[in-house]
Amino acid sequence: MYDLLFRTVFARMDPERAHHLAFGAIRAAARVPVLNGVLRSAFAPPATGAVQVLGRTFPSAFGVAAGFDKNAVGVPGLTMLGFGFVEVGTVTAWPQPGNEAPRLWRVLDRRALRNRMGFNNEGAVAVARRLQRLRSTPAGRALVVGVNIGKTKVTAPEDAADDYATSAGHLAPYADYLVVNVSSPNTPGLRDLQSVDALRPILQAARAAADESAATARRPRVPLLVKIAPDLADADVDAVADLVLELGLDGVVAVNTTIAHDLGEGGLSGPPLLDRGLVVVARLRHRLGADAVVVGVGGVTSPADARAYLAAGADLVQGYTGFIYEGPFWASRIGRALARDAAATRVTRATRRTA
Ligand code: FNR
Repeated sequence: MYDLLFRTVFARMDPERAHHLAFGAIRAAARVPVLNGVLRSAFAPPATGAVQVLGRTFPSAFGVAAGFDKNAVGVPGLTMLGFGFVEVGTVTAWPQPGNEAPRLWRVLDRRALRNRMGFNNEGAVAVARRLQRLRSTPAGRALVVGVNIGKTKVTAPEDAADDYATSAGHLAPYADYLVVNVSSPNTPGLRDLQSVDALRPILQAARAAADESAATARRPRVPLLVKIAPDLADADVDAVADLVLELGLDGVVAVNTTIAHDLGEGGLSGPPLLDRGLVVVARLRHRLGADAVVVGVGGVTSPADARAYLAAGADLVQGYTGFIYEGPFWASRIGRALARDAAATRVTRATRRTA
């Protein structure tokens, strides 16, 4: 059904316009209380799928990756469809328009996307205000929201730490976790910040600003993670993991889009990322031991793909491109499958205990 809608309507439309249209429909549905209630209970992940990660209960281990809801306008709508959590952003310290269009393309034969959006977003102050409103109700406080922060384009690389700290300060009181994004290919020089020497002061500044701001707002300490590219060499993945342990950070999100393609400008997402994503997650888990969280993302289409990330060592899994190709039932399908697995594992364990 969605496949037909996708082929006959969305695939003929400009991809960015299709995104706004579909996302607008999701947000509109969530604003109608009866519809929201009906859809939320129809799509809700079963209770057995809940996981305890980063000091929070996630209703499902499967969430929306950063970039889908850059300005935190659609958290109720996305969770209504069965996503266990939403990582909003990337948010930059200052508002910016992003790159000129066209900046998003479908790669239909690979069920992939290519984008060079360039962090179009309303900036940390506006997004913080929106999240403050969301958090002002019990229903809004119950939703799990990560916030992904990035460097403003006009900020010089040597001022990057201040830029990230500004965002962290504004957003920490409303986030269940923060992610320092140094891996998008569409801000010039951003990925150079993944080198340990460039990354250390950024993570330290973001950590300090988040701590101070959360304490002032009388909120608990906010977990801080870092998001990395699939194009890092293995030794550089290890170096980031070592830095996370050295600084006592909470984890790593892996992976962002890849520049390893010959389709033109921008980062590629979707199935071409899956193999490398799994390798990076397994490598991180090995290096980090049990001391930090790993969020696996990249190329998830089916429940089996999400399971593969968990089996490789991820605590949480995210997706973006699959949502575009698979449609509104996608999150719920994956959430339910993971919940069934969790229930089966519990039954097996209980049987073993009583045997
Ligand atoms: C992204 N992604 C992304 N990541 C990020 O950290 N900040 C961002 O602003 C964006 N923006 C963005 C826009 C678009 C159009 C796409 C397709 C992707 C990357 C995303 O979060 C994820 O890491 C990759 O897309 C890999 O996951 P999927 O899409 O293969 O499930």
